[in-house]
Amino acid sequence: MLSFRLFTLLLVFSLLNERIAESDDKAPFKDGESTPSSVLNSSPTTTIKPCGASDRTFLRKSGYWCSNLSTLSTPYQVSFSRAETNCKVAGYVVSSFETEEEWNYYINRAQSNPISNVTSIWLGVGYNECTNKYYWNDGNAIETLEPQPTVLNATGKTAWFLNEGSNTPGKRVLKTVDASPGGAPYVRGYVCGKPGRT
Ligand SMILES: *[C@@H]1O[C@H](CO)[C@@H](O)[C@H](O)[C@H]1NC(C)=O
Ligand SMILES: *[C@@H]1O[C@H](CO)[C@@H](O)[C@H](O)[C@H]1NC(C)=O
Ligand SMILES: *[C@@H]1O[C@H](CO)[C@@H](O)[C@H](O)[C@H]1NC(C)=O
Repeated sequence: MLSFRLFTLLLVFSLLNERIAESDDKAPFKDGESTPSSVLNSSPTTTIKPCGASDRTFLRKSGYWCSNLSTLSTPYQVSFSRAETNCKVAGYVVSSFETEEEWNYYINRAQSNPISNVTSIWLGVGYNECTNKYYWNDGNAIETLEPQPTVLNATGKTAWFLNEGSNTPGKRVLKTVDASPGGAPYVRGYVCGKPGRT
């Protein structure tokens, strides 16, 4: 019963995200995706905003990055695969971080709603078997990840623990934990991101 309700909630989130993604598409994409002419005609010809209204805009070394924190309104866990799917259906990936602004923005966002008690959030981190190092893997952020996560489960995924460490540069706590449904009940949020329009 509970899991059915959870699923419904997540479905609503996915749909929301999808709608957001659709409304994001009013300006032409730089990657040559075709834009329906009716949409083109109705869009204002002034400045193109890099990100949709539901996203926060960050300026990274490689350009604009649009991201947004998703949490459940009640303190339910989000598995990594659910986070990944929810981001993907809306045209996003699980976001990494590059700038101080991103870290600072999301800790404030997560802690701004004490009721949902978001104490850790999934981020986009992969493992490189050649270098034996974890790296930011959203495909846009600078890949170097320092400090490296603490590995509690080598086959897990990586989350940021907001209430641990001093949350100053070089002192943020990332841990690689069990990513299966139910495996990390304390992870209740995730950040989705995508490149901005230029
Ligand atoms: C972020 O995403 C959520 C869930 O998809 C959405 O409800 C919200 O409007 C988005 N934007 C902001 C600024 O929170
Ligand atoms: C490690 O995480 C994986 C999935 O991420 C899970 O299937 C496995 O049971 C976990 N192992 C332990 C010892 O918690
Ligand atoms: C918030 O979540 C953390 C981690 O799961 C838990 O230890 C803590 O008791 C929770 N606090 C409240 C007020 O629910």
